[in-house]
Amino acid sequence: MACNPPAAPLEGQPPAAAGVFEVRDLHRHFRLEKHRIDVLQGASFLVAEGEWVALVGRSGCGKTTLLHLLGGLDRPSSGEIVCRGLAYSRLDAQARAALRRRHFGFVFQSYHLFPELSAHENVMLPALQWRRDRQAARQRAAELLAGFGLAQRLRHRPQELSGGEQQRVALARALMNEPDVILADEPTGNLDVTAAREIIAILQGLHRERRKTIVMVTHDLRLAALADRILVIREGRAHPVPPGSTPDLGPPPLHHGASYSQPDIR
Ligand SMILES: Nc1ncnc2c1ncn2[C@@H]1O[C@H](COP(=O)(O)OP(=O)(O)O)[C@@H](O)[C@H]1O
Ligand SMILES: [Mg+2]
Repeated sequence: MACNPPAAPLEGQPPAAAGVFEVRDLHRHFRLEKHRIDVLQGASFLVAEGEWVALVGRSGCGKTTLLHLLGGLDRPSSGEIVCRGLAYSRLDAQARAALRRRHFGFVFQSYHLFPELSAHENVMLPALQWRRDRQAARQRAAELLAGFGLAQRLRHRPQELSGGEQQRVALARALMNEPDVILADEPTGNLDVTAAREIIAILQGLHRERRKTIVMVTHDLRLAALADRILVIREGRAHPVPPGSTPDLGPPPLHHGASYSQPDIR
């Protein structure tokens, strides 16, 4: 195992080999004024090392909420997430940030690049935040971008790049600290078919050749079918989809349509 968790597994927890994520009876509700929105209502599942899992479900069913919880960007109302024997409930904010920086690469539908920074600087940033050697970071960022066909785009700012190019920059940034887990939220959601294919090819390469564990939210069932396993989020729970069958998405969630602000993960 290339990357161990930053602390020893806790007593009574399963061994690290049990999986990357063990999600146990996860609940997350939100309060909007007087209303309570019960989004996750007992989601439980495992993600194994090197596995590619697609999370699908109706808009508003809680896919992004779940991905944020897996990434330690948010905390559940109740329930537990264990990442390689490390229970999130026992980690303080600093330990969760360390886990994120060291093990997770995030990719979002709308790229989340800093508009005032060049492609090169955007990719370098995670390494600099971690106080890595600046020259080595420059070089690695350039190599990652070149590997994604962006060698001629290092000095471009995000608004000077196409959507597909921006998402490739975001993927390069996600890989900067050599994470072993990629958490992707609708990574092709804003892209045309050609650009989406490029991103999918990169994800497939990361999965097959680099053995990355991928948890990917998507509403595109054809894209989900490329994953090793599909979980559908329905009525607040995660339901496995038998191989080869079409997920039953169920009715739209009752609370769909509320607006809220997303956490800032940069
Ligand atoms: N921070 C928040 N505050 C209030 N409501 C939220 C918050 N985050 C998500 N929600 C609500 O939770 C539900 C699920 O949201 P989300 O996880 O983004 O759904 P999905 O990604 O499946 O479309 C939605 O109704 C959304 O409005
Ligand atoms: Mg979402």
